[in-house]
Amino acid sequence: MAPQPSCFSTRVEGGVAVLTFDAPGEPVNTLSPEVGDQFEVELRKVELDAAAKAVVFVSGKKDSFVAGAKIDFLSTVKTAAEGADISRRAQQGFDRLDGYPKPVVAAIHGACLGGGLEWVLACDYRIASDSPKTSLGLPETQLGLIPGAGGTQRLPALVGAQEALDLILTGKALKAKKALKLGVVDEVVPAPILLEVARRRAAELAAGELKPVRLRGLPRAAATGKGLGDILRGLADRQAWAELALEENPLGRKVLFDQAKKQLLKKTRGKYPAQEKALEVIRFGLEKGQKAGLEAEAKAFGELVVSDVSRRLVEIFHATTALKKDNGTADPLVKARPVKKVAILGGGLMGGGIAYVTAATWGVPSRIKERDDESAARALKHVRGLFDERTRRRSMTAREADAAMALVTATTDYSGFKTADLVVEAVFEDLKLKRQLLAEVEKVVRPDCIFASNTSSLPITQIAEASRRPETVIGMHYFSPVNKMPLLEIITHKGTADWVTATCVEAGKKQGKTVIVVNDGVGFYTSRILAPYLNEAAYLMGEGAGLAEIDQAMVEFGFPVGPVTLLDEVGIDVAAKVGKIMHEAFGDRLAAPETTAKLVADGRLGRKAKKGFYTYDGKTKQVDETVYALLPHGKDRKRVDAAEVAERCVLPFVNEAIRCLGEGVLRSARDGDIGAIFGLGFPPFLGGPFRYADSVGPAKLLERMEQYRKKHGARFEPAPRLVELAKSGKRFHG
Ligand code: NAI
Repeated sequence: MAPQPSCFSTRVEGGVAVLTFDAPGEPVNTLSPEVGDQFEVELRKVELDAAAKAVVFVSGKKDSFVAGAKIDFLSTVKTAAEGADISRRAQQGFDRLDGYPKPVVAAIHGACLGGGLEWVLACDYRIASDSPKTSLGLPETQLGLIPGAGGTQRLPALVGAQEALDLILTGKALKAKKALKLGVVDEVVPAPILLEVARRRAAELAAGELKPVRLRGLPRAAATGKGLGDILRGLADRQAWAELALEENPLGRKVLFDQAKKQLLKKTRGKYPAQEKALEVIRFGLEKGQKAGLEAEAKAFGELVVSDVSRRLVEIFHATTALKKDNGTADPLVKARPVKKVAILGGGLMGGGIAYVTAATWGVPSRIKERDDESAARALKHVRGLFDERTRRRSMTAREADAAMALVTATTDYSGFKTADLVVEAVFEDLKLKRQLLAEVEKVVRPDCIFASNTSSLPITQIAEASRRPETVIGMHYFSPVNKMPLLEIITHKGTADWVTATCVEAGKKQGKTVIVVNDGVGFYTSRILAPYLNEAAYLMGEGAGLAEIDQAMVEFGFPVGPVTLLDEVGIDVAAKVGKIMHEAFGDRLAAPETTAKLVADGRLGRKAKKGFYTYDGKTKQVDETVYALLPHGKDRKRVDAAEVAERCVLPFVNEAIRCLGEGVLRSARDGDIGAIFGLGFPPFLGGPFRYADSVGPAKLLERMEQYRKKHGARFEPAPRLVELAKSGKRFHG
C-alpha cells in the first residue's frame, strides 16, 4: 500500500519553524492515531533542525483549526481497554509536545475543539484570531465522552478547576475574547496578523524575552500582564482569589466538587455518565497529581467510548451531520433556489420568531404583513425584544442587533411582497383564513414564489387546494419559541415540487435549524406522535394518578419536562382541539379522554391563562390542587408505579412513530429519531424512538404493547411495521 500523504508540512524562516496541519482532501482537520504519528515524525524533524529555534503550529484550512477527534474512528473501538489505549497514546503524544525542547506557539484561527484544544493546551503559548469563526472548547461530554488526550488535567491546571468544570461539563465553546479572559489563550489578535505575531512570540520565547506567568485560576490580566499595573489589577480581583483559595485547599475543593456534583445530578439525573466521570477525573488529578489524573482519564475514556449512551449520542451527531447534507428530496442533485427576501403573513408569536431567525441567523430581509397598524407595531416590538435579549446576554453587540433589526419591516398590505422569494404564513390556525390569504398572496407575488404554511395541524394538501400553483405550496412547521427550538419540520404534499422542498430545507438550515422533511398527513410527524403520549398522561390522571408523579416519572425517564407541564405550556385548549382532530383521523387508537374538555370549560387553558394543572402565581411551581375537583377520583390520588407510567406514555409515542415510518410519513428512522429529540425532547441518551425500539428489541416491544392492549384496548394497538420486524427479527436501523 502506498504511504499515506502526511497532514503536516514545515517551513523554517528566521529561526522559526511554521508547522502546518492540513489533512489532504478533508474539509477540516481531525485527530486520529495516524495523524498523531505523523505529527510526531514532523516534530522529530524540527527538533533536529538547528535552524529552527522555535515552532509555530498552525492550520492550513481556511477557517478552521482542528475540529476534534475523528468520530468515525471512535465508533470502531470495540473494548474499554482498546479505548483506554487510544487515550494513552494521545496523552503520550501531547506529553511529548508539552516537554518539547523548543518553544511551541499555537496560532489558532477557526474552530479549535476537543482534541484540537487539548493539542494546543500542550503548547507553550496560545494566540487566537479575533474572528467570529474562532471558537475553543471541549465538547466531548456532548458525545458521552470526556476529553481523552490530557484535557481533563491540562485545562484545570491552566484556568482553575471551577472554569474547567464549567467548560468540560457543558461542552460549550468560547469565542476568542472570552477564552482570553479565562486564560485559555494568552493573546488575541486580528486574523491577518495572527501568523506574524505568532512567529514573533515564538522567537521571543526562544530568546527568553517572553515568559508567560501563569497563576492558575487568575484572570489573564494578572497572569500574563507584563506591567505591574496589570498584575495588581488582577490581584485585586477578589472573586478570583476567593475561587482560587477554594480549590487550593482540600476542604474548599471538597465543597466545590460536592456542589458541582449535586448541581450536575439535578440536571442529568444520572443518565449522562460522561459528565460525572469528567468531574471525578478532574478531582482525582487535582488530588493525586497529573500522572494519576491522566491514567484515570484514559480509563474513564475507554469505558465511555464503548458505552451505550455515547454510542447513541454519536449516532445523533452522525444523523444531524447527514441531515446537513440532505436536500430533503429523493434526488440529491436537486438544487435549492436562492432566497433573497422572505415575506411573513402574521407577526404573532411564531411569525415574529421566524422574522427574527431570518434576520439574526441568516441575514436575509423579511417583510411582515399584519392585520392592522397596532398588530404590525406589536410584531416589530416582539422581534426587537428578541434582539434586546441577545444584547443583554452579550451574544450580540448593540450595533449588530440594530443592523439585523433593520432587515425586518412590517406592513398592513402586500407592499414589498412582489420581490419575495418565499412567503411563510403564520396567521391563526384556521383553514379558511389560510386558504383565503394564499389566494390573495398569489395575486401579488411572482409565479415562482414559494408559499409555506407554519400550520401545526392542518393538512398541507387542503391548504394547497386553494392554490393556482400547488407545486409551490409546502409546510414549514417551526416550534415555539422559534428563536430557541432547534427543529424545523417541513411538510410536502404530493404535488410539492422538489426544488421547492430543497429551497425550504436550505432556508431552514440557514435559519440555524435542524430540518426533517415529512410527507403530509394529519399531525404530520411530531404532533401526531405527541398526541397519544399526552392522551396517555390524561388517562393516567383520570385513573387517579397524581399530576406531579406523572411528570416526575417522565422526567426520570429523561424528558426535559413531564406531559402535564407540557399540556400547560402548549395550552390545554390547543391540546384538546388537536386531540379531537387526531381522534377523527385515526379512530380509537388516538381517542382523547373526556377530562381535558372539562378543564377547558372551566377556563383552565394552561400557563397562558395562569390557570391550568399548576399554579402560576407563587415562586415555586406547584400542582393547583383545585384542579382535582374536575378530575375523576377528586383529591383522592392513588400511588402509581413510575416505571409503568413511563412505559404507558412512551410506548404509544414510539408505536405511533413506527406507524409514521410504515405509512411513509417519515422518510427514514433517522428523521424520526431526530424529530422526536429536537422537536419534542425525547431523551437524547436513548437515541430517539427508533433507536430505543431497537435497543429494547422489536419483539419485546411488541410483547409489551400486547400486554397493555389487553388491559387498555385500542390505544396500544401495535403498528404493522412493529409486528413485521418482531417476526423477521430485523431492526429499524440497519
Ligand atoms: P398568534 O395568535 O400569536 O399570531 C397570529 C398572528 O396572525 C396575529 O398576530 C394576527 O394578528 C395575525 N393575523 C391574523 N389574521 C391575519 C391576516 N389576515 N393578515 C395578517 N395577519 C393576520 O399565533 P401563533 O401562535 O403565532 O400561531 C400562528 C400559526 O403558527 C398557527 O397556524 C399555529 O397553529 C402555528 N404554530 C403555532 C405554534 C405555537 O406553539 N404557538 C407552534 C407551531 C405552529
